[in-house]
Amino acid sequence: MTSQAPTLVPGLAGIPCAESAVSYIDGQAGILEYRGHRIETLAAQSNFEETAWLLLYGTLPTADELAGFRAKLARYRELPPALLATLAGLPKDGHPMAALQAGYAALGMHMEGKLASRDEDIALLIAATPVMVAAFERARQGQPFVAPDPSLDTAANFLWMLRGETPNVLESHVLDVALVLHADHTMNASTFTARVVASTEADPYTVCASAIGSLKGPLHGGANERVLIQLEKVGTVDRVRAWLDDQLATRGKVMGFGHRVYKTKDPRSFVLQTLARELFEKTGSTPIYDVALELEKAVVEKLGEKGIYPNVDFYSGIVYQKMGIPTDVFTPIFGISRVAGWLAHWREQMVDNKIFRPAQVFVGSHDAVYTDLAARG
Ligand SMILES: CC(C)(COP(=O)(O)OP(=O)(O)OC[C@H]1O[C@@H](n2cnc3c(N)ncnc32)[C@H](O)[C@@H]1OP(=O)(O)O)[C@@H](O)C(=O)NCCC(=O)NCCS
Repeated sequence: MTSQAPTLVPGLAGIPCAESAVSYIDGQAGILEYRGHRIETLAAQSNFEETAWLLLYGTLPTADELAGFRAKLARYRELPPALLATLAGLPKDGHPMAALQAGYAALGMHMEGKLASRDEDIALLIAATPVMVAAFERARQGQPFVAPDPSLDTAANFLWMLRGETPNVLESHVLDVALVLHADHTMNASTFTARVVASTEADPYTVCASAIGSLKGPLHGGANERVLIQLEKVGTVDRVRAWLDDQLATRGKVMGFGHRVYKTKDPRSFVLQTLARELFEKTGSTPIYDVALELEKAVVEKLGEKGIYPNVDFYSGIVYQKMGIPTDVFTPIFGISRVAGWLAHWREQMVDNKIFRPAQVFVGSHDAVYTDLAARG
């Protein structure tokens, strides 16, 4: 007897897979909240460490809690030398997201079961992510590792470790806000991945190694890298409209536009656009920025009625490039931030866990005949 086939919903679009209080999106109104706080408020008034705590523990930290969390993050930036050696030994032409994935797995091998509680593992993972990204970047450039500076916050310390120079206040601020903006975004692909892996009771290092793999894809975190490649291909403002017409005629996607949930401009891209403007006004414009402004205008004219508007990735890459960060390090920066969200979801998943085991719609055949190898054509 065959059971009735379940109805397939491609991409599980619109299907709830968990209860969550971490973040909230209203895609029609363009609203994003973390634990009830509007993203614009957090971008203007909070910082990455405070936001990470908020996502993880549900409320804004007290001054003592925040100071303790910051001190802990600074302490956990000291990674095992053997892990740094592993990162330095990875292929220099490999993608930094692959290095980060390897880094999480190796970090788990060094640390799993060694810390006093899961909250310590969480702090270690948040602290270690930027250190691993910077360590691989320095190694592949043939430059020596820069030791973390415990007096700096996550954003400034990352820039310091990347360059070996004290970053200026504006750049550190811009990166800090970008980290706030990327820290969580409801049930996106990498968060879903994190929750699926968490549901198997895998350790949080494995959870992050899996989620980072999901984030790497060009339809998810990898889009910010593709935006820059695309803008460079367009080259100049006068070529924007012809390029867009060609792209749409061949049903190509314009990277940095469109969203599964937002059908209006992503609220994070408003914040990033304002920061980009500030950065470019203070440090000088680039052709890429002008091309981006023109492309936004042209895409919204052509596709706005379909609900296709800029998403967070459209302006983040432009900002990072202006700060001298290599294109393939853009997605790892997304990971530096999103690890806080993944771990908040991991904590939530563990409260009332049930292993994920969705159904499928079987489209194969039955009663296949096994033929001996020698008799097969
Ligand atoms: C993010 C994304 C995967 C969302 O996809 P989705 O909700 O499944 O939407 P679909 O891919 O089904 O697109 C719906 C329609 O809009 C069009 N569309 C969506 N995004 C588009 C884009 N970036 N450029 C051009 N057309 C786009 C599709 O071609 C489709 O058109 P059709 O109805 O004529 O077939 C998609 O918008 C995309 O690929 N964007 C580019 C990559 C990107 O920036 N990703 C980062 C997300 S934060």
